[in-house]
Amino acid sequence: MTTTTEGAVMTHTMRAIVITENGGPDVLTPTTIPTPGRQGSEVLIRVLAAGVNPFDAEARTGLAGTCGSPELPAVLGCDFSGVVVESPYQAHPLKPGHEVYGVASVPRSPGSYAEYVSVPALQVSRKPKNLSHVEAAAVPLAALTAWGLVVDVAKAHEGQRILIHAGAGGVGHFAVQFAAYFGAHVITTTSPRNASWLTELGAQQVVDHTTSLFEDEVALVDVCINLVDDDAVAERSIGVVRPGGLLVHVPVNPVDGLAERADAAGVRFTDYAMSPDATCLAIIARLLDSGDVTVYVDDVYDLDDVADAHRLLEQNHTRGKLVLKVADE
Ligand SMILES: NC(=O)c1ccc[n+]([C@@H]2O[C@H](COP(=O)([O-])OP(=O)(O)OC[C@H]3O[C@@H](n4cnc5c(N)ncnc54)[C@H](OP(=O)(O)O)[C@@H]3O)[C@@H](O)[C@H]2O)c1
Repeated sequence: MTTTTEGAVMTHTMRAIVITENGGPDVLTPTTIPTPGRQGSEVLIRVLAAGVNPFDAEARTGLAGTCGSPELPAVLGCDFSGVVVESPYQAHPLKPGHEVYGVASVPRSPGSYAEYVSVPALQVSRKPKNLSHVEAAAVPLAALTAWGLVVDVAKAHEGQRILIHAGAGGVGHFAVQFAAYFGAHVITTTSPRNASWLTELGAQQVVDHTTSLFEDEVALVDVCINLVDDDAVAERSIGVVRPGGLLVHVPVNPVDGLAERADAAGVRFTDYAMSPDATCLAIIARLLDSGDVTVYVDDVYDLDDVADAHRLLEQNHTRGKLVLKVADE
């Protein structure tokens, strides 16, 4: 045990989930490792809850495409909610004891499947006050991705028609809400069990991807945000975007020739990469605290049961988010 200059008590070692090889969920191994040290402008955080994202599973297998996979051994996990233990300097706005949430720097640095994580301050914001740590940990990566797609790339606005594939997923349920918040006409694809929920979140048309082809159901849109990692869905999406409209391909696995085929059809194309951004997280926290936006936590697992969370995630039918509980709040 040691006491920091700010008076917080922390241990020299911590519980973490480590992978020493790439593979299936069984490679996620509960281990005791040294507690990370804080460097430069980083904030050292005691993690109370960690979100689970498809990227974690992709990094676990070593097939994280354009996002890159970490060197081994590695601690995975991007999302966290917790309490500041050490801040970069005394006058820093994030102070020991503050409740915060944010995004770790995987694959460059160890992640949040651990009792402590050290993260650049620009990736950390005060946690939404009205959310528990479990709920807050479900937000950062998915909501930042959705915000970047809907606000920065699509520039959602009244009168605009946006098709969001996989509206029921982690990114999708935020994207539907952000697009509706900014006045766009939101269309989304999902299975029937999520249809009424997505309507409540702001979707004006919900297409059942299990019984129909979206291109038969949807009139031309200005923007299509594709969150489904399926080449056929990506290809078919070109046909529902109006000439001059935009197709955004979000999965980390590129589809060969998709950009060229979109261009040939007169459709603008872009892929995408999420940027961790504390200012944006602060805006999202306000929307969550005001109730304008909600987060849906599908299930919660103890940290040591992370392999079960990955198995469920890989079935690809999570509603909203899965979260790991790391310590009591
Ligand atoms: N580039 C980046 O920076 C970035 C950032 C974040 C995420 N991503 C990628 O974006 C994708 C989505 O991420 P996520 O966190 O939202 O995933 P997720 O939460 O695991 O998505 C699960 C959802 O996908 C839906 N779904 C599955 N197949 C579908 C289909 N054919 N049509 C419509 N919906 C379908 C499921 O709904 P039903 O059960 O109703 O079918 C489920 O609710 C992933 O590929 C992820 O790697 C990329």
